[in-house]
Amino acid sequence: LTGALLLQEEWADHLQELIATGDIRPEAAERYPALQVIGLPGSIDNDLFGSDMTIGADSALHRITEAVDAIKSTAASHQRIFIVEVMGRNCGYLALMSALATGADWVFIPENPPESDQWEAELCSFLHKAREAGKRQSVIVLAEGARDRDNNPITSWQLKGILEDALQEEVRITVLGHVQRGGSPSAFDRNLGTVLGYVSVDTIEAAHRSDPAVMIGMRGNRIVRTPLKECLDMGKTLTGHIKDRNYRKALELRGGSFEESLSVFKTVSRIVPHKPSEGQRRHRLAVMNVGAPAAGMNIAVRTAVRIALDAGHEIYGVHQGFDGFVDGEIYPLDWDQVDEWTTMGGSMLGTNRKVPSGSDFYQIARNLEKLEIEGLLIIGGWMAYVASHSLVSERKNFPAFNLPIVCLPATIDNDLPGSEISIGADTALNNIVSALDKIKQSAVASRRCFVVEVMGRYCGYLATMSGLASGAERVYIPEEGITLKDLQKDLNDLITGFQHGKRLGLMIRNENTNPIYDTPFICALFEEEGGDLFEVRQAILGHLQQGGDPTPFDRVHATRLATRAIKFLMDEVDRASHQAVFIGMTEGKIRFTPVEDFLRLVDADLMRPKEQWWLTLRPVVKMLAQPGPSAKIEAA
Ligand code: F6P
Repeated sequence: LTGALLLQEEWADHLQELIATGDIRPEAAERYPALQVIGLPGSIDNDLFGSDMTIGADSALHRITEAVDAIKSTAASHQRIFIVEVMGRNCGYLALMSALATGADWVFIPENPPESDQWEAELCSFLHKAREAGKRQSVIVLAEGARDRDNNPITSWQLKGILEDALQEEVRITVLGHVQRGGSPSAFDRNLGTVLGYVSVDTIEAAHRSDPAVMIGMRGNRIVRTPLKECLDMGKTLTGHIKDRNYRKALELRGGSFEESLSVFKTVSRIVPHKPSEGQRRHRLAVMNVGAPAAGMNIAVRTAVRIALDAGHEIYGVHQGFDGFVDGEIYPLDWDQVDEWTTMGGSMLGTNRKVPSGSDFYQIARNLEKLEIEGLLIIGGWMAYVASHSLVSERKNFPAFNLPIVCLPATIDNDLPGSEISIGADTALNNIVSALDKIKQSAVASRRCFVVEVMGRYCGYLATMSGLASGAERVYIPEEGITLKDLQKDLNDLITGFQHGKRLGLMIRNENTNPIYDTPFICALFEEEGGDLFEVRQAILGHLQQGGDPTPFDRVHATRLATRAIKFLMDEVDRASHQAVFIGMTEGKIRFTPVEDFLRLVDADLMRPKEQWWLTLRPVVKMLAQPGPSAKIEAA
């Protein structure tokens, strides 16, 4: 627990004491009657209860992922084993998620010690087989609190000794240490901290003396308040389970998605897939990308391929979207071919916005029949969803389309139904935020206002979230539009601000907010009317938003969605079902929405869902963008 809001500063020292006694109220309330304790989850380890994520964990994952990616690129030129030690004394979150996100080979976490007493020999044999299979380097991620089944610590140096003796190979250790706690906060952490801080003040304002201390956290994109004592007790219980070697219970307490991630890691990190079981009917699935590139598409394909192959099925890759489907550019994918796809941005299969029509349907149906494809995974954005809806609508004319279909949301725009967050959006957001950090430095040096145009098509998600993460004064989004009156007010605020010593202005405009009041227009207006007070520059960020290596969130999210998507297809193929669905994360759960509901759920002209959860954050953005209370007093 690192965050707390206290009514009076001098009581801050007592917080530790209060927590240590586990007795924050009611006794504490008598001693400190005006004290209202609000816990905010802040810890890079993501080891606190009461929130899906703690503030700082995502940024730490960024640091680890960047480091492991870099290590993997050097390791490729030598035949070496790298041990990367990450933080997490009683929590394997950082180790497990970074191992999943970087395509590491092995992971040690406190909650899941190696099951066998022979684990050293098993690890050596695994690495030996990896060399025989042609893998030149291996990465082992080790949580600092890793241990064996008898609770003896497993250390980097111990591992190095074991591996060097058994394999006669060079082993290098990298202890990431406090690098993980530093650096620029990720967009997610900035926004999590901002939103939780905002809610804390509201909570304090509304609190009564007798209210118990609470932890304010985020679960499934929704604010939750849990009694602080309950959160602390669960933490103690988990540590107790680890101490008592009750690892099964410790893992259970971490939650279903943690356990699922561990099991997926164990599958996708195999050297070769399990062989199909005897007499098993091997199904043929296909996977493709459709729409603009979105970071995370490749790891989604990699996961789909490995989960399907490991379950004994075959999987084909359709190249170049529906163009390739029509032309029969469909080839089998194998285990090794996708090995390095974890970290890559863009689309290795190739992608475009083609939506099939007319004679395309006939060609696609023929290719499906020729290759006997029984299930289809389409990974992409708006056009992928439109295309899957077209295939379903054409089922009466083309029986080949009566196969199970899953659409997996992958677009930087985050504008798809049945999904609160699409893969690629987090990477684009971080690209924007790091560009904004630089633009702000330039602006502040020269007393300038920048109008920055971001992508998103008709959805204001990227604009809103980057505005929140960068402290922009104004965010223009298509959902709200923009009027001359708005511009007049924004201009007045800028003038007042610069007159009172403001050194920079930052306005963010979604590319399609208003066709008349476009970015050059707004810049020209502010420049002309701002006179000598400030200069105005525009920055249209463009395609840097679509590119870059996927963030850890996008990698992990893509892995989870692709795993469930393939499992869904495998189950449905067995049932000879025709279900066509959109997979997506909503309210913290992976759910499936029938493709038939597409038109009901979206505004087709504006190419976005009718309901968008993140719009509830607009008041926070607006409140934070206001001139401060002193400015208001002066203006009054
Ligand atoms: O849909 C993703 C997206 O990046 C939009 O945000 C943007 O409007 C569009 O694609 C850009 O398209 P293109 O890459 O074809 O110029």
